[in-house]
Amino acid sequence: MNQLVCVLMLGICVMQANSNPSISEGLGRPYLMECFEEAKTLVDDAYKYSRDESLSRVRREVVSPADILRLMKQPRGDSRSAVRSADYMAQTLRLLHDRVHRVHKRSLNATDLLPREDLEVLSKISGCAARVSDPSCRTIQNLDKYRTATSVCNNLMSPRLGASNTPFKRWLPAQYDDDVALPIGWERNRRFNNFVLPLVRDVSNRILASKDEGLVSDSEYTHILTLFGQWIDHDLTFTPFSPSLRSFSNGLNCDESCERSEPCFPIQIPPGDPRLPSGPDSCIPVFRSAPVCGTGYSEYNFGSVANKREQINTLTAFLDLGQVYGSEEKLAMDLRNLTSDAGLLRVNDKYKDNGRELLPFSPLHANMCATRRRVTNDSNAQEVPCFLGGDVRVDENIALTSLHTMFLREHNRLARELKKLNPWWDSETLYQEARKIMGAYNQVFIFRDYLPHIVGDEAMSMKLGRYPGYDPNVDPRIANVFSTAAYRFAHLAIQPMLTRLDENYQENASNPNVPLFKAFFSPWRVIFEGGIDPLIRGLVGNPAKLGTQENMLVDAVRERLFQFVEHLALDLGSLNMQRGRDHAIPRYNAWRKFCGLSQPSNQAELAEVLNNTGLATRLLQLYRTPSNIDVWMGGVAEPFVRGGRVGPLFSCLIANQFKNIRQGDRLWYENMGVFTPNQKKALSTANLARIICDNTGISRVPKDPFRLVNAENSLVHCSSIPRVRLSPWRERPREGPDEAGAGKEQQCGQRLNFTLEKPIACTFYLILIVFAGTNAILAAIAAEVIIMNVFFVSSFGQYIHTYIFITYELIHMFNSHTCPQILPTFLFNKLICKY
Ligand code: HEM
Ligand SMILES: *[C@@H]1O[C@H](CO)[C@@H](O)[C@H](O)[C@H]1NC(C)=O
Ligand SMILES: *[C@@H]1O[C@H](CO)[C@@H](O)[C@H](O)[C@H]1NC(C)=O
Ligand SMILES: *[C@@H]1O[C@H](CO)[C@@H](O)[C@H](O)[C@H]1NC(C)=O
Ligand SMILES: *[C@@H]1O[C@H](CO)[C@@H](O)[C@H](O)[C@H]1NC(C)=O
Ligand SMILES: *[C@@H]1O[C@H](CO)[C@@H](O)[C@H](O)[C@H]1NC(C)=O
Ligand SMILES: *[C@@H]1O[C@H](CO)[C@@H](O)[C@H](O)[C@H]1NC(C)=O
Repeated sequence: MNQLVCVLMLGICVMQANSNPSISEGLGRPYLMECFEEAKTLVDDAYKYSRDESLSRVRREVVSPADILRLMKQPRGDSRSAVRSADYMAQTLRLLHDRVHRVHKRSLNATDLLPREDLEVLSKISGCAARVSDPSCRTIQNLDKYRTATSVCNNLMSPRLGASNTPFKRWLPAQYDDDVALPIGWERNRRFNNFVLPLVRDVSNRILASKDEGLVSDSEYTHILTLFGQWIDHDLTFTPFSPSLRSFSNGLNCDESCERSEPCFPIQIPPGDPRLPSGPDSCIPVFRSAPVCGTGYSEYNFGSVANKREQINTLTAFLDLGQVYGSEEKLAMDLRNLTSDAGLLRVNDKYKDNGRELLPFSPLHANMCATRRRVTNDSNAQEVPCFLGGDVRVDENIALTSLHTMFLREHNRLARELKKLNPWWDSETLYQEARKIMGAYNQVFIFRDYLPHIVGDEAMSMKLGRYPGYDPNVDPRIANVFSTAAYRFAHLAIQPMLTRLDENYQENASNPNVPLFKAFFSPWRVIFEGGIDPLIRGLVGNPAKLGTQENMLVDAVRERLFQFVEHLALDLGSLNMQRGRDHAIPRYNAWRKFCGLSQPSNQAELAEVLNNTGLATRLLQLYRTPSNIDVWMGGVAEPFVRGGRVGPLFSCLIANQFKNIRQGDRLWYENMGVFTPNQKKALSTANLARIICDNTGISRVPKDPFRLVNAENSLVHCSSIPRVRLSPWRERPREGPDEAGAGKEQQCGQRLNFTLEKPIACTFYLILIVFAGTNAILAAIAAEVIIMNVFFVSSFGQYIHTYIFITYELIHMFNSHTCPQILPTFLFNKLICKY
């Protein structure tokens, strides 16, 4: 009935619109509303069905690997409302579109059907409008000192730039099958550069497959380098799926059908697959990444210009340790211990790890982590819930869980130390200051210790050398190609075994090694099998896997991903390529061009780029032309750049991304005024080995945990690893009855509230004048010399600024025959801050 009304009235609405646009507005809107209500019901029902079905599968212990991935990629909190709004909007437009076409059987001009004002109404009621409106930064406190959880207002001119739950950035335009929303290869026979694209699983089988026996280990770097990469990724990117388990248009469950129907985009199995049965009814279910509000539906987009589909990043683009603290306000609060005033993060109140803290449990009803009974085949085994962290993938594997645990402890350790230094600090100050220090550690580790091993010497010196200062015009957003392809390079560096070592760095039967495929979603191993120490030792005591052209992806992630029982396991290689197609990422040569690299056009040229004729031949048997190679595949096939662990293409893309993240971050730890010079100096001594020492029972560590232990990098006792001095965070308590000021940090970036006595100010000018005569310009230069020594002048703009400031004051003094006190006071304050 509703449908009928909707269709009929739309018909009228169209006729009216053609004759008189102003009437269309009055008539069209109620029916738009009606279609919206129907779409809303459709979406809400699908969400509810999916939620109930997921819960019931988890309860019945029949979750498949595809379910696990889907549950892990469920949007939560504010991300969920972002995705839901987009689904409301898209489904309303789809309903309108289908019906109009059914009635009129001809193409109609969308702007006639839906005047701009109606689209704006739809945008409002679906919740989409709220997602793009700029929040006010004026009401947020301490914007110059602390990050917001969502990073809203990091960029003051464009408050949502780099914030969580905003679209990924495109460095090259998307190339959808229909140019707007359908994934590449949605229509199987579509040709690109004259050739049909190969099935991703076929590529995986023929190029990525490798046997653990032939595995080559890295001769320089440890497995913690790989896991630290995943750790960083979980600070930067999370691409949610739609929560719907079934297609909106035909109601089919994505995992019960091989049909391609939004949001189902299954991976087809090629004939002769060594593991999976091939055939029309056999496929690996894949869920498309959720679209951004108002993107993806051509005819009905704002102003009738096609808005290509975009994907959502639920995390902030900044290196802000979102994986520890959460990227949304509510989660951030949930992670804090608010029962005490010590600024701590919440810890597990049920279990400890040899007396040390563990992550708190997640309150989710569906417990994906109840894997113990199935894995140990012991029906009486005690199950535990998943851990809760700032990022939902905290339980993805137990090595990653160990890193989360270690950094949680470091936060609490810092908060306790800071409280000793400044007992009057309140909970919020302790939390924020500890969080700020943690964020700086992380930035130091990534730029000083991690990235050089990945992108190599050249990219390091060209793009990631000396900090150039904050530039609000640099766009820090994460590029779609970074999350979907380039930063997935390290999937090739994953070892099939997570090693656990005892105090002597020896394998020990009491806590044996765990095959990676038995380490997914297994918090119980951390709780009942010796805690994080053996795992951390295993990470720093063993090499990473080397991602070679002969030995790419281990079976643990290619053939057994998220498999706990006999269900169809996922294939990470296929997923990576399918995801690239889902996001319509341009292919290999387009990105080579983007990076100013050669674009091989035939087998000989590809062989040269890859330095490998055999691999080039095998790739072209599948793709036929180098231009069609999926960018993740092409990127990981390249030989490493000098000093790095990625090829030239990924070195370029990864370096560009981190360059933007650093330069576009107003609160980057090296930016002026974020930390005092003394604090900055202290932070530069931070190192990962010390974090391990301070937060585990481990007493000997490699000096550089990313490098394999050898003659230059020996296992050393923790006592020889330097600590970050926290004394620069000590603050003198404010004296006197000024209670309001107590507990506030003395801010050296700003002018302090005290004025010099007049005689001192006059003496200052006297010295200047004696030094430079009555020449104001010379005096200014003299003052400049002093200023340069007191605080950093990081840009030419600032130099000019101080110069004008001083000159102005001096001219004022000469004209009025008085000594202005502002300049000397300013300098003295700076001096006090510095020393
Ligand atoms: C240790 C074992 C690891 C496992 C089991 C794993 C598994 C996965 C899975 C299942 C996905 C989602 C695939 C999809 O449907 O698109 C994914 C995405 C991703 N992985 Fe890994 N991964 C691991 C390690 C790493 C490492 C070491 C890195 C990087 C250094 C990394 C970087 C990424 C990135 C950037 C994404 C995209 C995330 C997003 O935007 O949602 N992963 N990984
Ligand atoms: C649709 O209508 C608008 C305004 O009425 C017009 O500017 C536009 O060119 C039309 N587009 C098509 C494809 O007819
Ligand atoms: C919160 O902190 C207090 C004081 O340190 C501690 O006793 C309590 O166990 C903590 N609670 C949680 C849930 O972390
Ligand atoms: C699990 O236990 C059942 C019955 O106790 C047995 O049949 C099965 O082989 C065991 N499986 C494994 C992997 O140990
Ligand atoms: C294994 O670990 C236990 C307890 O940590 C220790 O007592 C034992 O000596 C270790 N075994 C070997 C062979 O090192
Ligand atoms: C190219 O491959 C050859 C043999 O496989 C190897 O010896 C050489 O070092 C490689 N060159 C580069 C630049 O990787
Ligand atoms: C500076 O201190 C004086 C008295 O000590 C006080 O009256 C004044 O309000 C303060 N100014 C600011 C900006 O805090």
